[in-house]
Amino acid sequence: MKLCVTGGAGYIGSVVIERLLEKGHDITVVDDLITGHRDAVPESCRFVEGDIRDESVLKKAFESPMDAVLHFAAKSIVSESVSNPLDYFDNNIGGAVSLLKAMRDRDVKKIIFSSSAAVYGNPQRLPIEESDPCNPENPYGRTKRMIEVILECSRIAWQLGFVSLRYFNAAGSTEQFGEDHRPETHLLPIVLDVALGRTEELTIFGDDYDTPDGTCIRDYIHVIDLAEAHVLALEACNDGFSGVLNLGSDKPHSVLEVVQAVERVTGKKVNYRIGPRRRGDPPALLASSKQAEKVLGWRKRHSKLDDIIRSAHAWRLKHPSGYSR
Ligand code: UFG
Repeated sequence: MKLCVTGGAGYIGSVVIERLLEKGHDITVVDDLITGHRDAVPESCRFVEGDIRDESVLKKAFESPMDAVLHFAAKSIVSESVSNPLDYFDNNIGGAVSLLKAMRDRDVKKIIFSSSAAVYGNPQRLPIEESDPCNPENPYGRTKRMIEVILECSRIAWQLGFVSLRYFNAAGSTEQFGEDHRPETHLLPIVLDVALGRTEELTIFGDDYDTPDGTCIRDYIHVIDLAEAHVLALEACNDGFSGVLNLGSDKPHSVLEVVQAVERVTGKKVNYRIGPRRRGDPPALLASSKQAEKVLGWRKRHSKLDDIIRSAHAWRLKHPSGYSR
């Protein structure tokens, strides 16, 4: 298929593209490189640099007819979204609307969308199912939920086929592509940097939650398993499925468990201190991915915590300063 991938120079996008190329798809990447990396885009992709809110950028991207779009481009730091909500609404909602208009005008009727567990907010029960209430607690999560609503309205109005994939905590690397956010805010790369002596200590954001060891619980899913789900979602969308699907490992791990697992995998001590809670952090998030398994035939093969950590560790050793550009 001829695919347009927005945000393809980012962490999850780059790994999904690696898998799509293995499947023989023809890919055009659109990325403004504000958080993405040019080196994370394989040579065999056509690359259009720019912001999807800019019509001329989309015109270039859609120069030749596309069969479907995978939409990753977004701002995604929760704390930043709380302090600067307008940027998030402008970038994430504005970007999605502009992309969908371009798709509608060119009769491109399939999209796979990067959504997030953040759409659920603080869940009332665990594991979380897709039919559970969505009460996003921060502007980032709200943008993801609003875009899902826009997708559903577009399905009704102009028969858009969409699959919205609600990622839980993406983590891990392939041999070639890994996590390089600047600044880094995610737990695993920070813990690995402490283990590797590149950062002095980890601050654990709160140990007084109502969880077994007092630290927050998350559901870490290997980015390779996420990539496989995108390939399957594209096939399901081709077959006429539209809807939202959770993607998690369905295994809960506390922050302290992640620290211990990193110590086990790397053989290095992780220094940490307990700091105050981080604003907007739900105490526990855990997916039920049964729907994705049923609808897509998705199987998680890489998402044991130690395997995730091993892959991320190997990538960080190989790329000590991340991507060079
Ligand atoms: N944490 C720390 N110290 C740190 C960094 C993180 O204690 O230095 C803790 C957080 O408090 C949280 C856990 O580690 O309990 C995971 O934090 P991350 O920042 O790695 O991930 P989040 O769960 O906050 O967010 C991730 C994605 C978001 C997405 C969210 C949905 O980064 O984009 O999952 O669940 F919205």
